[in-house]
Amino acid sequence: MRILLGVTGGIAAYKAVLLLRLLREQGHAVRVVPTRAALEFVGAPTFEALSGEPVSTEVFDDVPGVQHVALGKGADLVIVAPATADFMARAVAGLADDLLTTTLLAARCPVVFAPAMHTEMWDHPATRSNVATLRERGVHVIEPASGRLTGVDTGPGRLPEPEDIAREALSLVDASLVGSTPQDQSQDQSQGQPQDQSQDQSQDLPQDLAGRRVVVSAGGTREPIDPVRFIGNRSSGRQGVALAQAAAARGADVTLVAANLAQDVTDQVDAARGASDRLACSVVRVESTAELRSAVRAAGVEADVVVMAAAVADFRPAATPDAKIKKVPGQGPAPIELVENPDILAELAHERLRPDQVVVGFAAETGDASGSVLDHGRTKARRKGADLIAVNAVGSGRGFGTDSNEVTLLDGAGDVVGQASGTKREVADAVWDAVVKLLP
Ligand code: C5P
Repeated sequence: MRILLGVTGGIAAYKAVLLLRLLREQGHAVRVVPTRAALEFVGAPTFEALSGEPVSTEVFDDVPGVQHVALGKGADLVIVAPATADFMARAVAGLADDLLTTTLLAARCPVVFAPAMHTEMWDHPATRSNVATLRERGVHVIEPASGRLTGVDTGPGRLPEPEDIAREALSLVDASLVGSTPQDQSQDQSQGQPQDQSQDQSQDLPQDLAGRRVVVSAGGTREPIDPVRFIGNRSSGRQGVALAQAAAARGADVTLVAANLAQDVTDQVDAARGASDRLACSVVRVESTAELRSAVRAAGVEADVVVMAAAVADFRPAATPDAKIKKVPGQGPAPIELVENPDILAELAHERLRPDQVVVGFAAETGDASGSVLDHGRTKARRKGADLIAVNAVGSGRGFGTDSNEVTLLDGAGDVVGQASGTKREVADAVWDAVVKLLP
């Protein structure tokens, strides 16, 4: 994996050296981008020697290579450790006055901050609000550890150990699925790797998505109520994963944004890869709607097609306390105030992150007194503005968690343009057949 390690100016910068060494030992290519202040703590030669890559802090170095864009776009993962209070404030403001901040703005991969500072600075309302904003935008901010700080004082604010940062950061990107391309896999085959023909359905499929980048969201979002509870839904992610696998098998470069997939679906993703299915997916794991939105938009900037198959929570708790909400004996439950989540699909459809991008949504519906499944689907297709909406009936064992599905495909005007039923993979292929017709 290509990891960009940002280091900012705090005393814990020395631990970034250990983190760098650990990541290199695990086989990752690491490019270190320190801030000027970080170099007051650890010298550039240390980072250069351990990473085997040049180190610079300025956008004006290597101008012909347009480094600040190339570094961000080329990374599979960005880790900033330590992230100072000042750096987080600059990231929130979107400043771009050195190589690290400009690189962050160009990055389209998971971004992890590991803050380190004194407890008072960590607890300051400005820092709390900056951390909340960063999390809302999809940055994964690791909780600082508690313990001995720079002086004799102790408390929360300590940089977690390098092993813990590496584990938490790497868990966001499924390393086994990143950086694998159909070309790599055909090389595997030519080197005599066994291939499970029954798994590799790409054998007979047209490569009509070759050279196309697609983003598929799958699963269901979870909105935290407090650190241990959440509001979630029953989506297993089966249809979304089938869409990702079908697209990969047809030659696409796929980013799967996976929100809390059922365990057997995650296992299926891993098993398919192990069986040399052409599942050339990058997998970005997310939990909440904010994280999913940020990951889909980040990958969507470069995508020809975005398919929103995830079940996204329409509402989230207005506030998420840092501590578990306690039951007070004798008092009833405290009400949970909800606020509306952004409609990611409608945003994508109305904004269009790229010209000619095809945007596809799903509508899981139940019929009721006000209309049939299809009536509701039609209304939704017109409201969302997507190019294609796959409407399916849910409830009574249909749709969620099952292996089969039945969808009616509507265009943006709500007119029926196709129908598909069968396994979720068959439905996925029918959706891609319809998408291919819309691609320029
Ligand atoms: O409005 P409804 O949730 O039924 O719409 C379903 C479609 O919209 C799905 O494609 C889902 O991924 C997407 N969606 C979204 N953002 C939301 C809610 C739904 O992108 N907040």
